[in-house]
Amino acid sequence: METGAMSMFRVLSACVMLSLPAVSPSQAQQSTGHQHSMTDHAKHMAASQADARQLVSFPEPLRSHTLTNMRDHLLALGEIQEALARSQFDQAVDIAEQRLGMSSLKLHGAHEVAQFMPKGMQDAGTAMHRSASQFATITKDASVTGDLKPALAALAKVNQTCVACHAAYRLH
Ligand code: HEC
Repeated sequence: METGAMSMFRVLSACVMLSLPAVSPSQAQQSTGHQHSMTDHAKHMAASQADARQLVSFPEPLRSHTLTNMRDHLLALGEIQEALARSQFDQAVDIAEQRLGMSSLKLHGAHEVAQFMPKGMQDAGTAMHRSASQFATITKDASVTGDLKPALAALAKVNQTCVACHAAYRLH
């Protein structure tokens, strides 16, 4: 049973490794200009499995609250993209600020969960909140100039902060 579950896990993690470009937190900070296909590095990672992410323990119900927040983060990113596509800049700004930015810290109980996070994870969380607030500021300008490009670039930076934390940490 244990070995069955274990080998299933290995197969699943190999699939995940194969379908994603290998991203480290530092690479995730760089621009998303090109995607690697199956690099030697990715092959090596898939073969030797090793989930190098740091395992972090949150007590319940903080763990499930956090994952619920995470799913809302993903929803928020989609809603922001939709708002931008419709030139509804104010709406994009509100979603970013209220659900991802500095104003969302209270909503997320950030203070409460922060004590269970290693320092690097706290910093990754702060980076996300900052980048979302930055996106909000830049998008306020876009509503005046009508130029979407800076807003899209700022949104990509928000996305990179998600990727960076996910590449480094996982929850119990
Ligand atoms: C400070 C670290 C951190 C940041 C920043 C972060 N996440 Fe997460 N997220 C996690 C961790 C840890 C998990 C659990 C992963 C695991 O255990 O495999 C997770 C899980 C998720 C999940 C899965 C939820 C579930 O029900 O299992 C989604 C979706 C998600 N994150 C979306 C996002 C999005 C979108 C962003 C950026 C806007 C983001 N996250 C930013 C740490 C972070």
